Amino acid sequence: MTIATAPGKIILLGEHAVVYGRPAIAAPVWQTVATATITDQPTGAGCIIVVRDLDQTLNLRTAAPDQPLALVTRLALAELGIDCIPDWRIDLHSTIPIASGLGSGAALSTALVRALFAHAGGPTDADTVSHIVFASERIYHGTPSGIDNTVIAHGVPIWFVKGQQPEPFTPPERFLLAIADSGIRSPTKETVGDVRRGWQANPSRYEAWFDQIAALVLASRHAIETSNLPRLGTLMDENQAILQRLGVSAAPLERMITAARAAGALGAKLSGGGRGGNVIALVNDDTRAAVAQALLSAGALRVIMTANCPDNR
Ligand code: MEV
Repeated sequence: MTIATAPGKIILLGEHAVVYGRPAIAAPVWQTVATATITDQPTGAGCIIVVRDLDQTLNLRTAAPDQPLALVTRLALAELGIDCIPDWRIDLHSTIPIASGLGSGAALSTALVRALFAHAGGPTDADTVSHIVFASERIYHGTPSGIDNTVIAHGVPIWFVKGQQPEPFTPPERFLLAIADSGIRSPTKETVGDVRRGWQANPSRYEAWFDQIAALVLASRHAIETSNLPRLGTLMDENQAILQRLGVSAAPLERMITAARAAGALGAKLSGGGRGGNVIALVNDDTRAAVAQALLSAGALRVIMTANCPDNR
């Protein structure tokens, strides 16, 4: 039996603009994980993929070519040089809420690809895994930047620019984030599509916003490297203001963000595709309890507190 896992993720700053070539900072969230378990089956049984949380069972022989999990399985087997269907049962399970901005789809695919490589005794370098998972991201998200599969496959905080090798990014000091789930499911494909339509209708306005976000991301890198957390909080707030203008915020998210700031968060913003999903708030040991409570009172279903943002383990 082989078991492999993959974390959820947050985007600290830079979502949406990252699709248009601007930088973004992302980190894994190990408090939520996807798990893939592979067991050998009797000869001739074929390969089935059981997704417990979705009540879904796929047969690799008959699954549609664009079924994301079947697609990454076929790509991984091809990479491993396995050209017949192996007699394996693959069980997938995830504690990452779906369509919540935490990279649930990429995490499930990453755990699956890692398990396939480990079970077949193949290489498991992060770049190969990320590259294969990107194929499923295209199906889930339409025009993804690749940031989700990259941060999840690498499992460390990264500085990411589309099409470039990611830079592992280790803050010198820990910082705490409260991650609050609005409970509103919002597929990234929709918000990314809406931003694209806005950009097509008014490219100069959108390009200017993306440039502003890029400047905030760059400044936030400096703030993190110099452990200037009040400045980082302000930059997160400014990023949120532009995300609002892009049309990817929503009233329930704004309520949670306002509540977190009022309870002492240094900054707060949505994280990921937006319109629903998760909000992140920058806190410290003195404010974490009050901010978590304020987020719950403002409607959050649950709040995850990162242990330590350098790697969130
Ligand atoms: C989704 O986690 C982040 C977005 O920027 C989309 C992408 O980068 O593919 C909204």
